[in-house]
Amino acid sequence: ETIDWELGDTDRGEFAHHMLKEIFEQPDSLENAMRGRLVEADASTHFGGLNLDPQKLRQAERIILTGCGTSYHAALVGEYLFEEFARIPVEVEYASEFRYRNPPIDRNTIVIAITQSGETADTLAALRESKRKGHTTLALCNVVGSTIAREADGGVYLHAGPEIGVASTKAFTSQVTVLAMLAIYFGRLRHLSALQGMQMIERMRQLPEIIRETLTCYDDVRRVAQRIHTARSVLYLGRNYLYPVALEGALKLKEISYIHAEGYPAAEMKHGPIALVDADTPSIFLIPRGGLFEKVMSNLEEVKARGGPVIAITNDGDESQLAHLRAKCDELILVPEVPEFLQPLICSIPLQLLAYEIAVLRGCDVDKPRNLAKSVTVE
Ligand code: G6P
Repeated sequence: ETIDWELGDTDRGEFAHHMLKEIFEQPDSLENAMRGRLVEADASTHFGGLNLDPQKLRQAERIILTGCGTSYHAALVGEYLFEEFARIPVEVEYASEFRYRNPPIDRNTIVIAITQSGETADTLAALRESKRKGHTTLALCNVVGSTIAREADGGVYLHAGPEIGVASTKAFTSQVTVLAMLAIYFGRLRHLSALQGMQMIERMRQLPEIIRETLTCYDDVRRVAQRIHTARSVLYLGRNYLYPVALEGALKLKEISYIHAEGYPAAEMKHGPIALVDADTPSIFLIPRGGLFEKVMSNLEEVKARGGPVIAITNDGDESQLAHLRAKCDELILVPEVPEFLQPLICSIPLQLLAYEIAVLRGCDVDKPRNLAKSVTVE
């Protein structure tokens, strides 16, 4: 079942599809997600609707993040964020699994449901089950007044504006942005220093501008799409914060171009998926500058050595590293350099654009892919 937006909201303007429009709206949607929530004076973030006193939040011993589809991938990014900055153990569960499992959950656990529509049946059921067991629940929703937004004990709205394209784009980056802000908030109640909090906030303030710059990778992306749009299978590889982004990149491609795709942690390749590598199976590596660059580089070389086409998404800047990479890969897509915790936002942009371009080249119905609905309100 689909949710129909008001007619006025469906204006695509100059864009050929809602999805493309929504991808290009991301500088603004992220600005809206952050508006009034970054508080320099506290070196922290602020939310109006959590409905939880800081005391209770400080006592949280575990967070469970749950959702479906793209929202589940945002939850996986949230796991890295909360664990790194708030030092809280996190579990991420598909809502459809969580609702029927009976995991031992201690008191002082906060369950956070992540959902663009606020109406997904499995996510709603997971939320209700958590409430029934007495857990504190929060919801990250885009649609104001949606069922999940109303039923959770508290929550944060994404303020991304209506998302019409069935494949989620701007809602995903808003979810990740809100999760980053929550990680700062929880972190500042626990272990995160004022200095660290401040530095993170400063970097977040620059996000809309950086996303604007990132969108100029569209030309590179179009070239890559021309090259790989006839593939029957594509692999997406990333590590750490970019592993969930690899999963999300693969999901986007499956959803709208109907090409089989898989996301994998880059180093897991050798334990199975590398058997898929051949001249017709491109691998897309997320390989930004930073601690794991050399490690991902060696994963990339393993694929190249087996004759697989390699596309690398990395940062411009360091010429020697770039030259090394250029020599090893078939195509390069350059994105701005940001601190690790913001890489999921920057690196998901070229993957959204790539899925879009490939789908268009294949003549697919980008905004309304077959068999999918924007909001799945049945089990
Ligand atoms: C559907 C949509 C996906 C979406 C998922 C979760 O399957 O096609 O794009 O990610 O539901 O939706 P939600 O509204 O809960 O984020």
